[in-house]
Amino acid sequence: MNDTVRSATDARTAPVAVWQLLDKLRGQDLIDWRVGPVPDRRSIAERGLDIGFPFGWYALEPSDFVGTGQVKPLRYFAKDLAMWRGEDDVVRVTDAWCKHLGAHMGHGGKVHGNLLECPFHAWRYDGEEGVVKDIPYARTIPPQVKRKCLRTWHVTEANGWIWVWYHPRDIAPLWDVVVHAEVGDQTWTPFETHEWIVYGSIQNMAENGVDVAHFQYIHGTAGLPQAELRWGEWGRGADVRAKMGTPNGMVDGLISYDTMGPGQSWIRFSGIAETLLVASLAPVEEDVLRVRYCYTQPRAQAEGPGAGVAKALIRDVNKQLDQDKVIWDRMLYERNPVICDSDGPIVQFRKWYSRYYATADQGEVPDLQPA
Ligand code: FES
Ligand SMILES: [Fe+2]
Repeated sequence: MNDTVRSATDARTAPVAVWQLLDKLRGQDLIDWRVGPVPDRRSIAERGLDIGFPFGWYALEPSDFVGTGQVKPLRYFAKDLAMWRGEDDVVRVTDAWCKHLGAHMGHGGKVHGNLLECPFHAWRYDGEEGVVKDIPYARTIPPQVKRKCLRTWHVTEANGWIWVWYHPRDIAPLWDVVVHAEVGDQTWTPFETHEWIVYGSIQNMAENGVDVAHFQYIHGTAGLPQAELRWGEWGRGADVRAKMGTPNGMVDGLISYDTMGPGQSWIRFSGIAETLLVASLAPVEEDVLRVRYCYTQPRAQAEGPGAGVAKALIRDVNKQLDQDKVIWDRMLYERNPVICDSDGPIVQFRKWYSRYYATADQGEVPDLQPA
């Protein structure tokens, strides 16, 4: 086989096959492709993605998404939600549909003090208790909505994002969001954010890091450098040491990857260019994942002579996600994969990751049926 034919058909010869799909995309076209639709997607069931969402904290929107006194509609976890920020500056999230006649409170709802007022007939909901506190035109509040009638979600703000705790049985958070000192530090740059819609599951995306063999075939690396894996109770990580080529010669690079739950992950790069990548991975549907990569770097580096290398690092990490997206957008969740000897710890990963799916002993299903 001559080299020209081989490069078109054999992923072991650069350019890797999926790159050909991305080659023509530049500038705005690439940005649009990252969030654009994927035609002829197969159904959630056909792809085996009907396994629910893993529980944990998810960064749904940046903190400036909702200002004091504002209400916004949201769609995450295959649910319609309403988010508002009360006069006390605290963000609250509830299910979107009003218990009265079913209006969507995220569209046209108002903030009244710290309560959410439905746009249809002004019933006012408390975001902590999930009860109706006030109906301005009624003499009494129906008893069915004086007790908890609306799902309220646990919310916190950290690292410049609004985090919501998801658990299919609505049990309270089992860990805290990890706070990064660099975010908001004046010596670090504000986030540079890049966005993708991945038409797949968060678990398939997470598995990518331990899928050793794909680095060569999808990303075109010479092979995965040695990684030291860490497996904690709710988080896991890896330290990857590699020699990296720079305009100033080879340097020892360190890539330190960490997660806390399925929805929080971050990567610290050092050696080549100091960078913190804070990832927001938020499931919208079982086959739709919203991904935002937020980068921050020391100002001295980003605005100094190392700026070119620092920018190149961001471009390179984004490119890797583009390459993986081509696969993720159409792959299924293979429950019984056939694994070979140099595949990396895929089986160990799956066994470990299964802790994020609710089991029968993780609390009762709360009674939130309409009264
Ligand atoms: S539908 Fe919400 S107050 Fe009537
Ligand atoms: Fe990858």
